[in-house]
Amino acid sequence: MKATAKAPANIAFIKYWGKRNAKLRLPMNSSISMNLTEIFTITSVEFNQNLKEDLVRIDGKIVSDKEKERVVKHLNRVRRLAKIRLKAKVESHNNFPKGTGLASSASGFAALTLAASKAAKLNLTEKQLSILARIGSGSACRSVPSGFVEWRAGNTNESSYAHSLYSPDYWGICDVIAIVGRKSKKVGSTEGHALVESSPFFKIRLSGMKKKVDEIKMAMKEKNFSKFGEILEKEAINMHSVMMTSEPALYYWTPETLKIMLKVIEWRDQGLESYFTIDAGPNVHIICRKQNVDKIKARLVKLVGIKQVIINYPAEGARILK
Ligand code: DP6
Repeated sequence: MKATAKAPANIAFIKYWGKRNAKLRLPMNSSISMNLTEIFTITSVEFNQNLKEDLVRIDGKIVSDKEKERVVKHLNRVRRLAKIRLKAKVESHNNFPKGTGLASSASGFAALTLAASKAAKLNLTEKQLSILARIGSGSACRSVPSGFVEWRAGNTNESSYAHSLYSPDYWGICDVIAIVGRKSKKVGSTEGHALVESSPFFKIRLSGMKKKVDEIKMAMKEKNFSKFGEILEKEAINMHSVMMTSEPALYYWTPETLKIMLKVIEWRDQGLESYFTIDAGPNVHIICRKQNVDKIKARLVKLVGIKQVIINYPAEGARILK
C-alpha cells in the first residue's frame, strides 16, 4: 500500500486571506491562481502493518511535533475515508531550497493528499481530492487541478474546491520569483488568517472581491495581459494593506521587497511590462509574458539583495508518479 505523488506550488493572482470556517478552512472569498513548474513537492506514503506509529520525514529530517500533528491529522482523514487503521510512513521532498520563504504547504498538502489516498486504495475524483487537500491547507486545494485555477469559496465542505479554468498551455505567461529572504516567517499564514477581521479595511476588501474575481477571469478569457496584470498587482497591495493594518500588524515585506516592487513599476514605465504579487513573505513574484523573461531576469540579477531567481511556467496539477 504505497504511492508517490508530485504536486506544484501555486501563485495566487486573487488571494485567499481570511477564513469563514477555520477548522474546515473555508475561505471568505474565491481565489484565482496558477500552478508553478519549478517549485514542487514529491511525497511517498506507505501504509504498513509493521508500523507502530506514523513516521513523517520532510527533506530527510524528522519533523517537529507541531508539523507532525498536522500531517497525522490529515492521514487520519484518509484512514477514516478508506476505513483502515494502518500507520503510515511519509517521505516528502521539496525541490526548492528550504527556508527561502516560499510556500510549501500548498504543494505539500496536495502531494500528501494524493499519495495517501492512492496508497489507501481510495480512488477519489479531482473534486474530492481538492476538498480533502483544502482541509489540510487552504491553498493546497488549488494545486490539485492543472494550469490556471479557480477556488470557488463555497459555504460548505462539499462546495468549496478548486477547478481548472485553463490548461497550462493556454497562455504563455511566467512567474519570475525574486528570492530576497531566507528567514522563516514570524507569523505563519494559518495564524495570519485569523487576524483579518481586526483590520478596519477587511470589510472593504471583502465587498470588492466578487467583482475582482469576475474581472480577472474576463481578462484571462480575453488574454488581456495589461488588464490582468493591473488587477493582480492591485490585489496584492490590497491584501498586504489588510495584513499591515491588522492587530497585531503583519509586515511581510523587507526593504528589498519594496525595492523590487518599485523597480517593476519603473521598468513598466520604460516599456518592459510586468506586474508584481507577494504572498505571506518577502519574496516578489513578477508576472510577465514569456518573451520578456530573459530581460527581467537580466535586470533582477543586477540588483543588490537578490539571492536567487526562479522562472516558472504554468504547470500541471497533482500527479501520481509511477
Ligand atoms: C497569502 O493556504 O498557507 O499565500 O489554509 O492556513 O494553510 P492555511 O493557509 P495558506 O494561506 C495562503 C495565503 C496566501 C494567499 C494565497 O495563496 O491565496
